[in-house]
Amino acid sequence: MAPFYLTTPIYYVNASPHLGHAYTTIVADVACRFQAMCGRETFLLTGTDEHGDKIMKAADAKGVSPKAYADSISAQFKTLWPDLNIHFNHFIRTTDASHKAVVTQILQTIYDAGDIYFSEYEGLYCYGCERFYTERELVNGLCPDHETPPEPIKEANYFFKMSKYQQWLIDYITSNPDFIRPERYKNEILSFLKEPLDDLCISRPKSRLDWGITLPFDNDYVTYVWFDALTNYISALGYPDGEAYKKYWPVAQHVVAKDIIKPHGIFWPIMLKAAGLPLYSHLNVHGFWRIEESKMSKSLGNVVSPLALKEVYGVDAFRYFLCREMSFGLDANFSEQALVDRINADLANDIGNLLSRVLSMTKKYFNARVPDADLSALPEGATDLRTLAADTVDIYETHMKVFNFSKALAAVWELIGAMNRFVDHTAPWALAKDPDCRRALEAVIYFLLEGLRISAGLIYPVMPETAATMMQKLGLENDEADFTINNLRQWGVLPADTELAPSAALFPRVEMKTPDAEKKSPADTATKAAGKDGKVEFQPAIDINTFAGVDLRVGRVVQAEKIPKAKKLLKLEVDIGEPRTVVAGIAESYEPSSLVGKQVIVVANLKPAKLMGVTSHGMVLAAVDEKGAVVATLDGTVNPGTRVK
Ligand code: ME8
Ligand code: MG
Repeated sequence: MAPFYLTTPIYYVNASPHLGHAYTTIVADVACRFQAMCGRETFLLTGTDEHGDKIMKAADAKGVSPKAYADSISAQFKTLWPDLNIHFNHFIRTTDASHKAVVTQILQTIYDAGDIYFSEYEGLYCYGCERFYTERELVNGLCPDHETPPEPIKEANYFFKMSKYQQWLIDYITSNPDFIRPERYKNEILSFLKEPLDDLCISRPKSRLDWGITLPFDNDYVTYVWFDALTNYISALGYPDGEAYKKYWPVAQHVVAKDIIKPHGIFWPIMLKAAGLPLYSHLNVHGFWRIEESKMSKSLGNVVSPLALKEVYGVDAFRYFLCREMSFGLDANFSEQALVDRINADLANDIGNLLSRVLSMTKKYFNARVPDADLSALPEGATDLRTLAADTVDIYETHMKVFNFSKALAAVWELIGAMNRFVDHTAPWALAKDPDCRRALEAVIYFLLEGLRISAGLIYPVMPETAATMMQKLGLENDEADFTINNLRQWGVLPADTELAPSAALFPRVEMKTPDAEKKSPADTATKAAGKDGKVEFQPAIDINTFAGVDLRVGRVVQAEKIPKAKKLLKLEVDIGEPRTVVAGIAESYEPSSLVGKQVIVVANLKPAKLMGVTSHGMVLAAVDEKGAVVATLDGTVNPGTRVK
């Protein structure tokens, strides 16, 4: 069976991972887990995109070198993925020496083939996008993405002859209709290709930007960040001679969101063609998550932290919500309430209740052992769960193959719904009262246990932990064989007399856990110097180890701003050896700008908390009395990140 190779975009290291990055990387993991269930060898690639102007500027703003800055943010991505149960096979960084060597080689190959030329160019440049715009691409004279005016710049640069390949690409996409999918994005690319395709400027003079990979044929230039970044998909496999390259490149698939279809649907296929390499098989494009109906952006302060959500609601529930709520290809809206609603309805109620009902009936009527059932003994009129389950596996597989995770899960929940109705309809508690109905009762319970086994297998790619718990409750070994698609297609796998594990709630019901921001601000929880009777009140005594568990670090405030609608809160960007966003309840005592550059003391190991829409990763120490808040600082300058003890 052919192997399966899937890549996520490599994320820019100019900001911490957010919900959007988590979604793409989770669905990539889900797709790989599904393909592995089908018996394929899989390879999941992710990583970080570290060169270019954007990163330079972000590093400058924090007063650190681009490499040090990239190191710290790249590490955030790399450590987040395992926390979300994502198994990547390789994590690439564009600053890796092996990657740089491949970029250099591809540039030289295309240059030698005559598809790169040198020319003077004057154009409108957006620094945010790191690219030139033509007048017709602008919206009211502004960059459509950043909504800022591009700047006119004139310079001599190297250009890649994309125009030469325009007709070839149109023909290729037309004759391979699922090269870019879903279809709306294929159409978007084709309609873009109706206009003449400009050649692509692929260099930046070092005088303007030197944080990049030097052109092999001109030492005064670095290459354009997209040319560098796209190449990661082959450099990570050890192009040109690596075994992984030979095995996986012929079956390559990419997942990206709609923001970057142009580089992936146009630049990348043309680069591959010009370098004489085979193209990838599929570009799978998803839509954008919007937060409470608006765009997620740093300036709106509504960036959702995946780690914070996972910590409050659990990794499986978070993964389930993302896969179920977004129709792949379309935009979706995120709200914490919608997440809570899905947990309570789909997880706690539908699947959780079903499992606990069936387990407790098996315990009550069969001493917690799988009955030895005669499948033809089902009561009259009961749904044939066996056929329904087989159909569900087919529908599920069709959707999973093409990244329609939401529809695949909807099909599984149809089955779960049918099983819940099956319980109500067959009323095992009534059958149990009539000795003549013993065989019917055995069949009913067996059908339900088998249906649960199949459901557990089908949810595995999305909710691996829950699937394992369910299999274990059903008394199965919980090994790989339980999760193969072939095994889920079969009926009658659960051996009679298997002992089931005791029941427990799979998913407890949850409440919205948004903290009351204003109440939680340090000013309100301030310990008064003197208690009611004029005496100083202290907290109960702790030992030195308890205190040592509090990780206090010196931080330098890099940025400070007010949080809209929160009169007491400021959002601080603090360098504590790594960039941190910290919310502090000191807005009534400090002008934001007066804090920038100040040394503060940060509690670095506090669990993240969301305050008025902003996730705070730590707390700034301050003393509060009736005159207001005073931030604790140090008696001399030390390096950011130094521990305070
Ligand atoms: O574009 N909803 O990196 P990037 C869904 N370095 N997904 C979202 C999202 C949202 N609101 N916001 C971001 C880059 N994403 C380049 C890629 S690849 C050779 C180079 C996800 O950090 C989505 O996958 O801006 C999107 O395509 C990607 O993050 C952009 O990440
Ligand atoms: Mg982006």
